[in-house]
Amino acid sequence: MYTIKRLALLTSGGDAPGMNAAIRAVVRTAIDQGINVFGIYGGYEGLIEGEVMPMSRRSVSNIIQKGGTFLKTSRSEAFLHKAGRKRGADVLKEWDIDGLVVIGGDGSFHGAHALYEEHKFNVIGIPGTIDNDIFGTDLTIGYDTAVHTALDSIDKIRDTAASHDRIFLVEVMGRRAGFIALEVGICGGAEEILVPESETSLEHLGEMIKTWSKAGKTSSLLVVAEGHKLGSANEIAFKLKKNFNVDCHVCVLGHTQRGGSPTATDRLLASRLGYHAVQALLERKTDIMVGWSNNHVTYTPLLETWEKKKPLDSELLKIYRILSS
Ligand code: F6P
Repeated sequence: MYTIKRLALLTSGGDAPGMNAAIRAVVRTAIDQGINVFGIYGGYEGLIEGEVMPMSRRSVSNIIQKGGTFLKTSRSEAFLHKAGRKRGADVLKEWDIDGLVVIGGDGSFHGAHALYEEHKFNVIGIPGTIDNDIFGTDLTIGYDTAVHTALDSIDKIRDTAASHDRIFLVEVMGRRAGFIALEVGICGGAEEILVPESETSLEHLGEMIKTWSKAGKTSSLLVVAEGHKLGSANEIAFKLKKNFNVDCHVCVLGHTQRGGSPTATDRLLASRLGYHAVQALLERKTDIMVGWSNNHVTYTPLLETWEKKKPLDSELLKIYRILSS
């Protein structure tokens, strides 16, 4: 009879608040089903090096509220290559593991999918990234917390921008996706939101800023996703000064967005997806990601999670344009 007796899990790629809650959920659900669970320390890099540890219910006590990932994470160069993945698969075989749960973003899912393709290994992905750029799930673990963290900073920047009549460019994370920028931009009342998904010219930006001051705005705030085609917030500020003699202050929120205690939304999502990841393995599902859409669990082939593009909410883009002027 098909069964999973020994399951391993790892976190990979950029850490995200709520990863600990997901680890806890996987470990405790698996133990509840009589499965032995093993934590792999340091992501795929740790897997290659054989950093495997047995886990118990107590190993995951008191972590649900903590940011980061206590299993640690990495962006493994070695796992991008067949030889690295072969070594990883050998370690899993040495430990007699029959299923692997990978908590991470699209880069991590590439690795999991390759492990399935090349070594027929059972793999399940759980979306954990602050970017929310994974197809097949409305939310990824960490996104909600990152939005709250960024919004808290933006509210504070607004106070000082208004007091000094200044223009601020606030850079948020998102190399290829504007989910964080769009949401915090709307919620923070930004005058302009620059996302990688849409084009804006420097000329348009310069003109807009002049219009605002004519319309009586004394301060303004522009949210810039780090992956915008015009460049980083610092580069945009430099170009605005050079071409339009507009002075802007810049605040790069950077890795603050990746830390901190996860919100209730992230803890709940992580607990749900951790539970469903184990159930999915027991139901013989493999090479898929468990996600959450329209209040239901979803199963998406790993390949689709990055091959299909998750679009920004077009209605939100429309709403922001109306509300921001
Ligand atoms: O993918 C998550 C993310 O935080 C991106 O938003 C950001 O561009 C990137 O990771 C930064 O990665 P690192 O911490 O490795 O520089």
